[in-house]
Amino acid sequence: MENERIINSKLENKEEERLENSLRPTTLDEYIGQTKVKENMKIYIEAAKKRNEPLDHVLLYGPPGLGKTTLSNIISNEMNSNIKITSGPAIEKPGDLASILTNLSEFDVLFIDEIHRLSKTVEEILYPAMEDYTLDIVIGKGPSAKSIRLDLPKFTLIGATTKAGSLTTPLRDRFGIVHRLELYNITDLVTIVKRSSKILGINIDADAAKEIAGRSRGTPRIANRLLKRVRDYATVLGDGDITLKIAKHALNQLEIDEYGLDEIDRKILETMIVQYGGRAVGIEALAVSVGEEIDTIEDVYEPYLIQIGFIARTLRGRKVLPAAYRHLGYDLPEESGNLSGQISI
Ligand code: ADE
Repeated sequence: MENERIINSKLENKEEERLENSLRPTTLDEYIGQTKVKENMKIYIEAAKKRNEPLDHVLLYGPPGLGKTTLSNIISNEMNSNIKITSGPAIEKPGDLASILTNLSEFDVLFIDEIHRLSKTVEEILYPAMEDYTLDIVIGKGPSAKSIRLDLPKFTLIGATTKAGSLTTPLRDRFGIVHRLELYNITDLVTIVKRSSKILGINIDADAAKEIAGRSRGTPRIANRLLKRVRDYATVLGDGDITLKIAKHALNQLEIDEYGLDEIDRKILETMIVQYGGRAVGIEALAVSVGEEIDTIEDVYEPYLIQIGFIARTLRGRKVLPAAYRHLGYDLPEESGNLSGQISI
């Protein structure tokens, strides 16, 4: 489905991966937004380099599409080291991780995406690797089994996750540097859209860049995706240059509204308003009613809807807020006057 692919968090295919790679900044100075993370990382990287030590292990968490992989590539680049990229589900057995670790070089970065999806047995290999740069392996079986300890090169693990809460405490505690990536503000997204346009050789008016940025739900990956789609409209309907008129037309055709909401966002909000009458609803019930996975709602849709004040997480579940009623043209329910008395969590 067209719109689902735009909001969808994952890299869609090889072509999109190529697009992202071509747009990826390679230094911290080129990286737009996430100022606090950037400033801190600059200090940590410089300190590690001055002491000739590996950078401490880094945990990056936050919604998808905000640049966790990009930032990891930048970190390894700034450390003048190599990066090995893998993911939690790709490391199936302890032996898979042992082989990755023993093939690293001193100061290399090992990037594990979706680190919350590592199995328990694999995770246990990571503890001594992170703490002491050692690998404990068992050779043989039964009474004659022997445990030997191997030294590993001093490396930096960068773990990325959309679900920091799903990480086990022993794993989380082994990261010296923990950063949450935030949704981007419009100013930063406008800069990203303009930068991407320049790299792709697209002429774009300032107000058109702002229009695309405003409908990108705080997410650079979505901004770049929209830019590409709008460019298609500009090529067919105009001379290839992106004007505000073309941008608005294209985005309306894609059914992305002025808040960047798509049909699934609207379905979530309408379900909460109509089916649940604005009462708090549990995520499981909501997922069933909307026909989406719980993870998709929690990781992809909800963070932005919370950020723009359309829903809130309360002790009794998710609650739809007055701004969402107004946006979708619904009257507020009778008892909604005390919404501000809700305890948000
Ligand atoms: N492209 C995607 N994310 C970016 C960022 N944070 N800075 C610059 N370009 C980007």
